[in-house]
Parts: sequence; structure tokens; C-alpha cells
Amino acid sequence: MGALDSQVVLVTGSARGVGATMARSVAEAGASVVLADIRVDEGEAVAKEIGRAARFLELDVTSEAGWAQAVEQTLARQGRIDGLVNNAAVLHIGTVEHTSPEVFRRLIDVNTLGPFLGTRAVLSAMKAQARGSIVHVSSIDGLIGMNGVSAYATSKWGLRGLAKACALELGRSGIRVNTVCPAGGNPEMFGPWQEQMMPFIEETVAYTENRGIPGETPFEAIAQAVIFLLSDASRHVTGIDLPVDGGATAGRFIPGFNTL
Ligand SMILES: NC(=O)c1ccc[n+]([C@@H]2O[C@H](COP(=O)([O-])OP(=O)(O)OC[C@H]3O[C@@H](n4cnc5c(N)ncnc54)[C@H](O)[C@@H]3O)[C@@H](O)[C@H]2O)c1
Repeated sequence: MGALDSQVVLVTGSARGVGATMARSVAEAGASVVLADIRVDEGEAVAKEIGRAARFLELDVTSEAGWAQAVEQTLARQGRIDGLVNNAAVLHIGTVEHTSPEVFRRLIDVNTLGPFLGTRAVLSAMKAQARGSIVHVSSIDGLIGMNGVSAYATSKWGLRGLAKACALELGRSGIRVNTVCPAGGNPEMFGPWQEQMMPFIEETVAYTENRGIPGETPFEAIAQAVIFLLSDASRHVTGIDLPVDGGATAGRFIPGFNTL
């Protein structure tokens, strides 16, 4: 028996990267998965590869009308919606001086408003079922500060506030709301800044190595944390932030001290 047998789960931002891995793992755990993204060709390809348990919908998470349509189509086809994973996001790297108000607004729109609209869109169906689990994908940048990511960090801290308020509002309706906070994900997200970041490669390696568990966070580890929060194994868990970060937010790591 799978952890998500007979569930219907919608995963945003699932055309590539961590979201695509989540969609595959959610299907492997027994659920029907609805992939949603603005990248149509890539999203359809992932859904095709997963097979009968998956279907792709084009969705821009910043569109309220788009959300209404996505939920309507899911209910018409699958009759229910048990899980929503708000994973779609965009990044901007640059100090606050190099972050325009337009870029800041864009990150809040996709990364924070998108999950807010998604939450509102699934509410009436989840309330009618008296069952639902909403998982927002935040980041360690939503748990601790880091320079160069003011807009992204603001959007990811905001998600945690949204989750906690909604967890308190919706628990009595059988709906749980939590966040996962990964330390890493798809390097393609950094694509536009890769060249600028090259001179700092050693600092970036140190960033991932100086953790309790060194190295990149595997996509599958993030997906399994999401599956836990979607499944009945976490039925009394709501309003939490679950770091999947190899201990990156546990505290400071001084390599030399491990030899003393
Ligand atoms: N990449 C990292 O290092 C990292 C670190 C911590 C947390 N995260 C988080 O993990 C999640 C997955 O990111 P990833 O690493 O796979 O990056 P990614 O860029 O590969 O995936 C993001 C997906 O979101 C989609 N998307 C962007 N805007 C959208 C919109 N308006 N509507 C619908 N879909 C949209 C993209 O098309 C893409 O498929 C994100 O929430 C991200 O913030 C990533």
C-alpha cells in the first residue's frame, strides 16, 4: 500500500527540477498527480513519462482565473483534490540595491501570492471533503537570512506566515497547512546568474559543505518530506516548517572543531 493511495494531488512548478521529482514520487506513492506549470512542453513530457497516474495542466500560479479553471478541471475529471503542493517559484540574485521594485513584486506575485491563490482555490473542495493537506515549498532562505536574496527571502518568509495563519484557520475543517524548507534544488534556477557566480565557486562549495550532512540536498529527500506532509502519517501535524537541509539551519559548523 502506498502512503498516498487513492489521493489526488496537484503539484505546481512540476515541469522540471524538484517539482518534477515530487510529481513522480507522489505518483509512486499511489496518488493521481496533476502537474501544473507555465512550461507546457516540459510539463507534458514529465506527465507522459509518469503515465496513467499523471496529467498536465497549463497554469500560471499568479492568475486567479487560471487557478479556478485548474481546480474545476481537476474536480470534473478526478472528483476530488486531497493535496496541493505550492512548489512553483522564481529566483532573483542581487543585493537590495540591484533589486528593482518590479523584480521584487514579481517574486512576491509568483512565490507568495501564487500559493495564497492556490490555497483559496482548493478550499471549498477540501472543506466539502473535510480533508486536505496543503504544502508550501519555502526554503532555508525563509528560515534564516542570506545576503543577495532580499526579494526571494521575503517571498519565502511570507509563505511561512501564510501557512501558520491558514493552519489555525482551517484545522477544524480537516485541512492541514505546512511548509518544507529545502537547502537546495535545481541548479537551473540559478541559470541567469551562473556566469556572475563563477568567481565565487569556492564560497558556494563551502556553503554546501559546511553542514551537518555535507553536500547538495537530493530532490528525492525533498519529495519524501512533502509526501510525509501529504499523507495520513502526519495527520496531527499542521503549521510546521520542515527543513530538508542537511542541518544547514541547525547552527554554525566549524570544520576544524570536528578534529578536536
Ligand atoms: N533551486 C534551489 O536551490 C532551491 C533552494 C531552496 C528552495 N527551492 C525551492 O524549491 C522549489 C522548486 O524549485 P527548483 O529548484 O525545482 O527550481 P526550478 O526553477 O527548476 O523550478 C521552478 C518551476 O516553477 C515554474 N514556474 C515559475 N513561475 C511559474 C508560474 N508563474 N506559474 C507556474 N509555474 C511557474 C517553472 O516553470 C519551473 O518549472 C521552489 O519553490 C524553490 O523556491 C529551490
